[in-house]
Amino acid sequence: MRKKVIAGNWKMNMLPNDAINFIEKLSILTKDTQNEVIICAPYTDLFYALLMAQKTHIKIGAQNMHFEKKGAYTGEISGEMLKAIGVEYVIIGHSERRQYFAETDETVNKKVKAAYEVGLKPIVCVGETLEQREQGKAEQIITDQTEKALEGLSKQQVETIIIAYEPIWAIGTGKTATAEDAENSIKAIRKKIAEQYGNDVAQKVIIQYGGSVKAENSKELFDMPDIDGGLVGGASLIADEFAEIVNYKG
Ligand code: PGA
Repeated sequence: MRKKVIAGNWKMNMLPNDAINFIEKLSILTKDTQNEVIICAPYTDLFYALLMAQKTHIKIGAQNMHFEKKGAYTGEISGEMLKAIGVEYVIIGHSERRQYFAETDETVNKKVKAAYEVGLKPIVCVGETLEQREQGKAEQIITDQTEKALEGLSKQQVETIIIAYEPIWAIGTGKTATAEDAENSIKAIRKKIAEQYGNDVAQKVIIQYGGSVKAENSKELFDMPDIDGGLVGGASLIADEFAEIVNYKG
């Protein structure tokens, strides 16, 4: 049985004080949950978030990293730097990074490999645009993105990866994929992984849904057998609402 893994993606929001208060509150509100909880905070909050989360069940992730270990890359942060302060997870290839920061399938793959090299667990984002969906290409796009992101990884690495299926048209728009559509897309991703790495591996991979997940729609989504939790943007900025999502019971 796969666990439900619910990650908050704060994006470029929350100052250190907000992060401290939020994590304290969230840890109390979700203390009895059986689900895994991750907060992906901006770099400047990570240290504070890690301190606050230390004796709680909340895990901390970053939202990006560079694929090189060190060097002349002004303004960048390496996986080694994240690992050194205690970060466990890292979002890689979020559609906002693909769209605004020229992230490609190739850089995503390099980052995924670099994350494993230092012992960070990647949360890899894949998803189609509205145009691609309307042209009937969604499945092809997301399975291709998945294949390219995982290229060169061992079976042992693939079975511990988290994939977030996030249709781009559903991110921050209030439009959610129907639970059935999300389930079908996630099934297609799992099938692709099964073809390449075997069904045993595919059955272990956590595949989340992301895109306007809210307290009011999360249960319907998470009740789907292949949807292993969510990557939550907007609703992860409100402690009460995010706690309700995290406290999902099957
Ligand atoms: P949203 O963002 O929940 O605000 O749609 C999700 C994401 O971008 O990870």
